[in-house]
Amino acid sequence: MGHVVPPEAAALLERARRIVVVTGAGISAESGVPTFRDALTGLWQRFDAQALATPQAFEDDPDLVWGWYEWRRSAVRRARPNAGHAAVAAIEARVPGTVVVTQNVDDLHERAGSTDPVHLHGSLFAPRCSGCSRPASLPDVADEPAGGRRVPPPRCAACAAPVRPGVVWFGEALPQAALDRAVEAAASCDLLVTVGTSGLVYPAAEIPQVAARLGATVIQVNPDETPLDAVAEVNLRGPAARVLPALVAAAWGDTMPT
Ligand code: APR
Repeated sequence: MGHVVPPEAAALLERARRIVVVTGAGISAESGVPTFRDALTGLWQRFDAQALATPQAFEDDPDLVWGWYEWRRSAVRRARPNAGHAAVAAIEARVPGTVVVTQNVDDLHERAGSTDPVHLHGSLFAPRCSGCSRPASLPDVADEPAGGRRVPPPRCAACAAPVRPGVVWFGEALPQAALDRAVEAAASCDLLVTVGTSGLVYPAAEIPQVAARLGATVIQVNPDETPLDAVAEVNLRGPAARVLPALVAAAWGDTMPT
């Protein structure tokens, strides 16, 4: 059964000329990638993701934190993009110039065919030196044990400092170039579609607000209420992997690969 999309939402998508799609953990949930609000399991079950994803946690216990990121990278490698990611790529293919802005550190948008998503919070696949910031190569792929394990981070080839995940931790600034691209795109779009984000983490949550303030229409896809309900003209309540393909099909007919 397809999801029923109100005709006004389909019409907004069909009419839009400059589109921004902002995604969060919810779009990858149906690919089996846990969101940050899910309880941690295994080695990390005593911990809170918001406390582990910090510079302080890495400083205090690098093996624990690096092991967590290796476990997450291994889980993402095994995961596959879902119909929500495919629908985003279909919007991009249909409306050239569409900008995809993601808070996710996975690569599921790229693997679904999105060309150059803006990674506001960095990537699991771009580690760098914690000392000199030089990009580091990824350790050989290993399937991490289900319960996780401690893994000492590799050392930088140039300065021997520990390599750190190339993600934005709580308390850290976002990569300026990514933030600039996202804000510029939001400021000049006519439609912003926000998908699977709690709208709680700033400055990412500001991006739909910028678009709305400057006159764009906002469509939100999320099974739950969020603070972004207030800026969204249309709230489509449901899982991204069902709602987004239905939205695309309602706008342009069944152009989605299944
Ligand atoms: N489809 C769409 N949305 C979903 C789905 C789904 N199948 N499942 C859950 N959601 C929604 C939840 O209702 C929630 O609003 O996805 C959202 C996930 O919220 P968060 O886990 O807070 O993820 P996100 O908004 O991406 O978090 C922002 O905070 O945790 C840090 O740095 C991390 O990038 C992350 C940032």
